Amino acid sequence: MKADLIVHSAAQLITAPPGTKPLLGTDLDRPILIEDAAIAVAGERIAAIGTTKEILASYPEREAARVVDARGRLIAPGFVDPHTHLPFAGMREMEFDARARGESYESIASKGGGIRASVRHLRSIDEAALADRVTTRLGTLLRQGITTVEAKSGYGLSPEGEMKQLRALRAAQARSPVEIVPTFLGAHDIPEEYRDRRRAYVDLLTGTMIPEVAKAGLARFCDVWCDRGIYTVEESRAILLAGKSHGLLPKLHADELGDAGAAALAAEVGAVSADHLLFASDAGLDAMARAGVAAVLLPGTAFTLGLPYARARWMVEHGLAVALATDFNPGSTMSSSMSLALTLAVTQMKLSPAEAWMAATANAASAIGEGARIGRIQPGFQADFCLFDCSDYRHIPYHYGQEHLHTVVKRGGIALEGVEAWTCT
Ligand code: NIG
Ligand code: FE
Repeated sequence: MKADLIVHSAAQLITAPPGTKPLLGTDLDRPILIEDAAIAVAGERIAAIGTTKEILASYPEREAARVVDARGRLIAPGFVDPHTHLPFAGMREMEFDARARGESYESIASKGGGIRASVRHLRSIDEAALADRVTTRLGTLLRQGITTVEAKSGYGLSPEGEMKQLRALRAAQARSPVEIVPTFLGAHDIPEEYRDRRRAYVDLLTGTMIPEVAKAGLARFCDVWCDRGIYTVEESRAILLAGKSHGLLPKLHADELGDAGAAALAAEVGAVSADHLLFASDAGLDAMARAGVAAVLLPGTAFTLGLPYARARWMVEHGLAVALATDFNPGSTMSSSMSLALTLAVTQMKLSPAEAWMAATANAASAIGEGARIGRIQPGFQADFCLFDCSDYRHIPYHYGQEHLHTVVKRGGIALEGVEAWTCT
């Protein structure tokens, strides 16, 4: 048979077992590992995976358009980052400094910093400049092995501002191989001018912004920050149901600062995922497990803000579909490194390295509704995978603070090749 691309002789390949569903319970710790591995790619899809001997017996090298020798390297699915705030405008180092001096995230926000600072930054940048910044960031993500990223609006908090962010994502998408899955997060905070008229802003969201975003086809999901001091369960329910009625699937920033009952709401509205969950109750999490709501965990946020980590082990043992993400944003998590998220998941949340990998690939894809297309190296799936300069999947979370990426294949094409990695012998 003829392949367009053959990658062979990899020291090791890691991927989830064949399937399209998220990995639950003990299955999260049982990836497929192939030594001396090879992949055959046809067009944009994986045709076959196996040992080098098996693949080259069916797909002769001389008939392939392109052959890559992956000797000594690890092959893994491209990271899927299922939670970022990519289209932001300005930086917030001052807040980082203030937190180092003991001030809390909530206290900074109450003085006009936090999300409101990012809203001011966003309002002062034009759409083309914002699209340029997003494009540059997508380049960084690619060099970190991220092949698909979910990206939220939420710093506009007005019809024009939110549309500007979502249109900037669309413009950047046309200039980068990294796939963007866009989310409308108009309910990230209550904008300054609606402080004393919360109800009017919720009405604006449900009556104007959601229908406009949906009509323009600019988002797949509708997200709400349901938490202590942010949106209440009642407000969040109204917003998420309005989104749903316009075809935007529900997602939540849930119980990040306190137990606000957001996890249970996620189960009630049939959310695709509920994210953060640092303070979610046992009952709320159990309801999520029963309803099949993915739990997207963002260890970088707890790390940055000095908060307790989400109870990843408890969640895995209680049947939740646990996924990992960065939460890349200028306030609570100024990092787009999925490798670092893996390290924190292992060292702080006590996932095994294999569980962390599965949570950042197969389960991350499911958490954005893409589990049947990406996140696994599996025949028929889109050919999105990376070569790393190490020979064991555990090396990525273990050797932290630097990138080990060498090559990225996206949609069957070589998107990045021969990145100079630091030696790790
Ligand atoms: O996911 N939790 C809400 N939103 C972000 C923080 C946004 C910001 O501070 O700009 C988060 O942590
Ligand atoms: Fe977030």
